[in-house]
Order: sequence, then structure tokens, then C-alpha cells
Amino acid sequence: MAYDLIIIGSGPGGYVCAVKAAQLGLKVAVIEKRATYGGTCLNIGCIPSKALLHASEVFHQTGHSIAELGVDVGKPTLNLEKMMAHKDATVKSNVEGVSFLFKKNKIDGIQGTGKVLGEGKVSVTNDKGEEQVLEAKNIVIATGSDVAGIPGVQVEIDEKVIVSSTGGIALEKVPATMVVVGGGVIGLELGSVWQRLGAKVTVVEYLDTILGGMDAEVSKQFQRMLAKQGFDFKLGAKVTGVEKSGSGAKVTFEPVKGGDAATIDADVVLIATGRKPFTEGLGLAEAGVALDPRGRVEIDGHFRTNVPGIYALGDVVRGPMLAHKAEDEGVAVAEIIAGQAGHVNYDVIPGVVYTQPEVASVGKTEEELKAAGVAYKVGKFPFTANGRARAMLATDGFVKILADKETDRVLGGHIVGFGAGEMIHEIAVLMEFGGSSEDLGRTCHAHPTMSEAVKEAALATFFKPIHM
Ligand code: NAI
Repeated sequence: MAYDLIIIGSGPGGYVCAVKAAQLGLKVAVIEKRATYGGTCLNIGCIPSKALLHASEVFHQTGHSIAELGVDVGKPTLNLEKMMAHKDATVKSNVEGVSFLFKKNKIDGIQGTGKVLGEGKVSVTNDKGEEQVLEAKNIVIATGSDVAGIPGVQVEIDEKVIVSSTGGIALEKVPATMVVVGGGVIGLELGSVWQRLGAKVTVVEYLDTILGGMDAEVSKQFQRMLAKQGFDFKLGAKVTGVEKSGSGAKVTFEPVKGGDAATIDADVVLIATGRKPFTEGLGLAEAGVALDPRGRVEIDGHFRTNVPGIYALGDVVRGPMLAHKAEDEGVAVAEIIAGQAGHVNYDVIPGVVYTQPEVASVGKTEEELKAAGVAYKVGKFPFTANGRARAMLATDGFVKILADKETDRVLGGHIVGFGAGEMIHEIAVLMEFGGSSEDLGRTCHAHPTMSEAVKEAALATFFKPIHM
């Protein structure tokens, strides 16, 4: 039997595409080489890291800030094994959720490694080396990404002492010292987990700023907050070597602007210098599927590769490597294959860093607007002036809104603060509907909420805030 659609990869892009396509009446199969569905995100990425971020934050708060609220519990003790068990249970319930969705939507999940054999044909090889060839009218490549390592540097990741994010969510004990190579999202999130649990964390970052690409004002203030929490930063520092040394590892780095190299020792080194599209063993070259110069599967505006009937989405194609971007692409591809008009608005894809406080952003940064020569206006509001934030001792941070100077249309929103990752969505919805800062400022917000800071920042953008 030929399927309407075979998807290779069951991460957020692949499984969402499968569910949507099945909902639209297509006969769908998903090929997955891992033992469980859900890809990097559910198995070793977003979901387990959030379980650890939450648990480590509760541990940290219990030891620090709740006494100020009048809650005395004494010094907390860490049960890392139990914390990891919570993480594993979270993963299990999420990956089982995907299995349930497949059953509910009559999607065939096929365990094994998929390979594109050309138009309409895919082979699957299971653990025992048995191969079968499946036929489909359409094929979707949703194979995601893999750890990129440090560009130009040979590093042996053993996932014990020198770890990627995979080992970084599974350490057996809290290291006394940890060096994080790369001050991007993974480095700061996992660095936060181990810092809260007691590690002394040093971040070595090539750029002069952490979270490169974020609004500069946000990343600067966020860096100060992390430094206050105990993070040490070596910025403008290029890591040129990481090697095992005794029971730990040694990191060599040199100033990007030139100067003497230095070394730093740590019990554990986390390599968090980006991810690369995963296309190995997929048979793309033989099938004639073109890659772009950065090794990503090349697609047109409708997710079509150069080979008819073969589509690609998620981390393996251009754009931010984010689970929710892949999910939206999955929906769009399913709709396109089903003959509908699938579309993703790349101007409104939120990004969240799940640290404490969280950092969230959507749309353009101030630097991007400047570079594009757009006339813009800015409105800001600090959480120190928000009643709910004071009540919760969560006054660190601010909301920043950027709008077109002429039309007042909101072009970007940036939040650093408690719950930023939830609050950002009201700006995203506003932007999706082409709303203005006045629209947002005139929308009644419940009092007292942190979200009132978003409203106040909008008021500040088109006229003046009330509470400042
Ligand atoms: P990243 O690209 O966010 O950050 C890597 C950092 O490493 C960059 O700042 C870069 O300048 C630095 N770097 C590169 N080479 C270096 C060197 N030799 N020495 C010092 N620094 C160096 O990559 P990351 O954090 O590994 O994340 C990978 C992907 O996963 C990203 O696309 C990210 O968006 C995604 N992700 C998203 C999450 C979220 O949305 N919350 C969570 C985790 C990952």
C-alpha cells in the first residue's frame, strides 16, 4: 500500500506534521530511529531541560528567597537522583503522549532508520538490519539537528566530563566547577541548572555579548542578572581547545581581538556552540536532493525540495532552530500536501530562554530596525514599578516594545523578567494581527498581573505610561 505521506523524523516538526496530515484525511507513516517518538526536543532537549530548570529553581528558591516571604524551611538538601527521576518521568509521559496521538490518528509509526530512495520511495532499516521499502506520494524530511561542536576545534565529547546538552542533562553529581563553552541558549539554560544546584559556572563566549542576536539592551541587563546570581563571564574569548585533564578538563581560550591564550580547569565542560542540520545517512545526495552551502536541505517558499514530492522542515532547513517553528512548519506542510494554503509567518516567531528570570523576544530587535533604516519608537516599563512583581519579589527586568514611528504598528517585543516566556505571546498575537502599541495599551489588563507591565510598555510607546 502506498502512503499519502511518509515523514522521516518524529520530532516536533515531524509528529505535528503527521497529526495534522492525518486530521486532514491523509494516510501517514512516520519513521523514527530512536526507541521513542518526539525527537531531540522531547527526549533530550526542551522537555527534560525544562524539568531540570524548574526543579533546580525550586531548590534554589527554597535555599534563598522564600525566607524573605516569611517561609522558613531551613537549608534544602538535594536529591539529584530523584530530580533526574522527575526529569525521566516527564520525558516518558511526553513521548507516550506522541504514541497516543499516533494511535488516535491512525498514523503508522515505524521504528528504524529512514533513507530517501528518490521520488516516492523510502527505505527503513530496523535495529536488526532488516530493510523494507515503502512507497508514498509525498515524503517529508524532518530529521532535525545534531550537536555542532566547536567550529575548527577537535573535541572529544564523552558525555561525562566533556558534555554536550545530552550529557549536560544527565550528570550523576553536581560538579564543583563547570565551564560552559558558548553563551547561547543551551549554555545559559543548562549553566543555570548546575549553578543553582551549587556549581561555580564560567561561560566562555566568542562574542562581546551573551545571547548574540537578542536585543542588546536585554542581553546586557540579563548578563548583569546572571552575574549577580554567580555566573562568571569571559566574553570576546575564543575557545581553541578542550581536553581531559586529571578527573576534569582544561579549556584553552584566547581573546578574539588578539592577545595571550589562557586556560581554565573545570570538573565538567559543557559544549554549547550550536547545532547543525542532521542529514547523515539519509541518502539525499543519491536521491538528488540539494543542500544549501550550510548543509541544510534547500527548500522553496512552499517547503519543496528540488525533487518533486519531497519536502523538508524544521531544524534541517533554514530559519531558527526552534521546536515551535518546526511545529508550525509541520502544520503548513501538511496543509500544502492536502491541497490547502499552508503558511508560516517568520516575522512573528517568539524565542524564549527559560532561565530565571526568563528572556523572551518576538519580532525585530532595536539593532535590526536601526540596521534596516526603519524609523521606530521605543516604550519601556520596568517590573520594579509593577505591583504584582513587588508582591512576588520578582522585580528584576523590564518590557520593551518597538513600534513603527509613523504607523505605530508593533514591530518587536522584548521581555526579561519572571514569566517572560508566557507574557511574550500577547505581543505575538498583537503582531500577528498587525496591531499597534495603542491597541495594546488600550486593551484592559487584569490587575494585579505581571502582564500589566506589557500594557504599560505599550502605553509608553505611543504616549506615556501611567505608573512611571
Ligand atoms: P547558540 O547558537 O545559541 O549559541 C552558541 C554560542 O557559542 C554563540 O554565542 C557563539 O558565539 C558561541 N561560540 C561558538 N564558537 C565558540 C568558540 N570557539 N569559543 C567561544 N564561544 C563560541 O547555540 P546553542 O546554545 O548550542 O543552541 C543550539 C540551538 O538550539 C540554537 O539554535 C537554539 O536556539 C536552540 N535551543 C533553543 C532553546 C530555547 O529556545 N529555549 C533551548 C536550547 C536550544
